Amino acid sequence: MTHDHAATTLRTHTCGELRSEHIGQTVSLCGWVAKRREHGEKLAFVDLRDFSGVVQCVVDNDVDVRSEWVVRVTGIVRARPTGTENSSLATGQVEVGECRVEVLNTAEPPPFPIDARADDVDEGIRLRYRYLDIRRERMQRNLRVRARVNSAIRSAMENQGFVEVETPFLMPSTPEGAREFLVPSRKEPGSFFALPQSPQLWKQLLMVAGIDRYYQIARCLRDEDLRADRQYEFMQLDAEMSFVTQDDVLAAISEAVVAAAESVTGVRPPQIERITWREAMERFGVDKPDLRFGLELVELTDIFLSTEFKAFAGASSIKAIRVDALTYPEHASYGRNKLDGLTDRAKKLGAKGLVWLKVVEGGQVESPVAKFLSDTERTELLARTGAIAGDLVLVVADEWSTTCEVLGQLRNDIGRPPVHEGPYRYVWVVEFPLFVGADPHTGRPRPGHHPFCHPHPDDIEKFETDPLSVRALAYDLVLNGWELGSGSIRIHEPELQRKVFNALGISDDEADRRFGFFLQPFKYGAPPHGGFAFGIDRLTAILAGEENIREVIAFPKTQSGADPMTNAPTPVDPGQLAELGLRLLPPPAQ
Ligand code: AMO
Ligand code: AMP
Repeated sequence: MTHDHAATTLRTHTCGELRSEHIGQTVSLCGWVAKRREHGEKLAFVDLRDFSGVVQCVVDNDVDVRSEWVVRVTGIVRARPTGTENSSLATGQVEVGECRVEVLNTAEPPPFPIDARADDVDEGIRLRYRYLDIRRERMQRNLRVRARVNSAIRSAMENQGFVEVETPFLMPSTPEGAREFLVPSRKEPGSFFALPQSPQLWKQLLMVAGIDRYYQIARCLRDEDLRADRQYEFMQLDAEMSFVTQDDVLAAISEAVVAAAESVTGVRPPQIERITWREAMERFGVDKPDLRFGLELVELTDIFLSTEFKAFAGASSIKAIRVDALTYPEHASYGRNKLDGLTDRAKKLGAKGLVWLKVVEGGQVESPVAKFLSDTERTELLARTGAIAGDLVLVVADEWSTTCEVLGQLRNDIGRPPVHEGPYRYVWVVEFPLFVGADPHTGRPRPGHHPFCHPHPDDIEKFETDPLSVRALAYDLVLNGWELGSGSIRIHEPELQRKVFNALGISDDEADRRFGFFLQPFKYGAPPHGGFAFGIDRLTAILAGEENIREVIAFPKTQSGADPMTNAPTPVDPGQLAELGLRLLPPPAQ
């Protein structure tokens, strides 16, 4: 790697850029002492590190430099003596000799080694000394991958005519879904701002305002339980477009994602394929399918329409039974414990049970339920699943969603590689349902995403008769089984919006009360519009080969939501509370 603008008053080159072509040149380098080894009576090897890498410097033994001291070295680049080259180091063919060393600063011994060994150090310690952790090659690389992703996204959006607009951080609390972070107001004690869980409200208003194409690399805040793919603060590429259909939004966002991926991997991903939500559920059992592996679910319902086996015949409590199979090739050797483990897992996931069948030679099966299956049922099952001797077939019978979801989870359990393992498989999942399940209190459907998603125009008549089958113009982008982002075409027609609210059991009055500040502007000429947001932390983590988004964030929170470096969150002094008109309650009893 060369760093064109690396030279400064203090240095001529960076440590990691020296190669054989520099032999004979006098260079000045600045960096940190990565390692010091004595070499005979007179000399010592000092490995000097900066952001670009490490190079070996040969210094006089009496030079006092120690781990992580900051030094400036001036010397002559020379070939390493034959046999001492280090092929695992980019600079391993050369070293810097006849060095003059200036100590720019001393340092205390670091709490952990500033190299790959720190990967095994407790994460709390890594985060407490994050500024040392970031000195390491892994974090240097990850943060630079992130910068490349951001830069590629910006160019891709700007090339497509999107205008960057910054939106407020202090805003009213909105009913968008996630729990919000609140900020007390000093001027109006008892009132609060909320921090944005996303710029959703603002970007739709920017469409009413005629901006036409908006984008922002936006910080979003959600007070959620943290996981590998979730932080309190995260970054979205947030975009909204006017006078578009779903195809236009998908094309524009695909361009940004593809450009970001290409900027990191050097390879432009192929056109991103699309599947419908229903197809994703029926083939992969999840709405974020991992297409890197097969093991697709296969429907068997019709084979068992008049079966003697009562579990597959459908209990009276099940409205419409669906029987699906998942074939686990070459796993008929599973013993009792493993099979019981799979059954327990299926039950925890909500199935009533799990039937396993081991396929043996001659088209026969071994299974606790083999005796209940007719010859035709068995033969058809084998033909439909394609299972052959040595395979294990897992079958669930239940309502559509339970059958798909349980086998989908088992499919992921048995087949899913780590998220970053290639090949990268992007997929658009389109036609999410507008409504999901009924609210236990009201019996009314609940919004699938949020109540502002546009229904599929072909399904509008089904609002009253069969609301749960109404599709939305809502879509997700999925990469290797991770949800990268979501979006939709929005409702811009007040009449249709009222219809959706009514289906959700929200009266016109209630809608005005709860969403008035959002609905009012739509009366002044809202264009048809739609948009999308994807998580930059997630995309960067996958492209950087990391399992946890913390590894691609400079200063993240721990899993428990704290920052061990600054100790945030911290108590504040009573004066600050008084100024805000706040008094603390005693902590709740544990
Ligand atoms: P949504 O809520 O699906 O949609 O968020 C979009 C994407 O943001 C990322 N994301 C997160 N990343 C890290 N930590 C989190 N806590 C976190 N929460 C979400 C995910 C997710 O897919 N306004 C809508 C978009 C729209 O309709 O235009 C929205 O925010 O990658
Ligand atoms: P039972 O008739 O409940 O004793 O179950 C017989 C076998 O069928 C057991 O192995 C159960 O795990 C399995 N089983 C029961 N209900 C279902 C179901 N709905 N889908 C798949 N397997 C089931």
